[in-house]
Amino acid sequence: MEKMKSNKLLRIALTKGRLEKDTVKLFEKLDFDCTELKEKGRKLILQIPNAGIEVVLAKAADVITYIEHGVCDIGVVGKDTIMEMGGQFFELVDLGFGRCRFALAGKKGSSFYEGYTTKTIATKYPNVARKFFEGKNMDIKIVKIEGSVELAPLLGLSNAIVDIVETGSTLKENGLEVYEDIAPISARMIVNTASLKMKQKEIESLISQIETVV
Ligand code: PRP
Repeated sequence: MEKMKSNKLLRIALTKGRLEKDTVKLFEKLDFDCTELKEKGRKLILQIPNAGIEVVLAKAADVITYIEHGVCDIGVVGKDTIMEMGGQFFELVDLGFGRCRFALAGKKGSSFYEGYTTKTIATKYPNVARKFFEGKNMDIKIVKIEGSVELAPLLGLSNAIVDIVETGSTLKENGLEVYEDIAPISARMIVNTASLKMKQKEIESLISQIETVV
């Protein structure tokens, strides 16, 4: 009991949406009381009273910002956002859910690598795309798109896209196909560097509990 009292509160930033739901399922497997999280309404900061955890709901890119600034100790965020944004934090656990991949895709049947003209790539992930083509020593032009990137090659704006593929049905239903896989993606647990020192006991305990179920 005394030991419980000395535990420091962990503040966890959760990416809203699908990763949030999968994280709640994970916490429930650990018998964490997720009542507030499941009945949250429009509330953004929620408590898991029996685990000494406070949950903050945020957009993926903001999860990284909150961890880097040290206002949250732990973040649950996709590897896609980590690859795009980078940053100073520890990436400690692959949570196994939110699995998908980055891929280069475009119109079915067109041969992307043929010809010598500079190719245009539409993407929500310019840094990921740039790095991928740098690795191939290929000069490309990037057009940043905010959503439904699949439209760009269909409208003739780009030769291809760099985007997330999960089931592949968005590509298929729009006459597109994967040209090349770029990287696997899944949800990761990231930790603020100072928190790992200041709250080492609490963080290690949470990680070892999580590792029993992922
Ligand atoms: C993602 C991605 C693709 C789609 C792939 O978009 O950008 O469009 O999912 O999934 P699939 O392979 O299972 O069809 P998301 O649904 O996140 O919406 P967004 O375009 O608004 O970001």
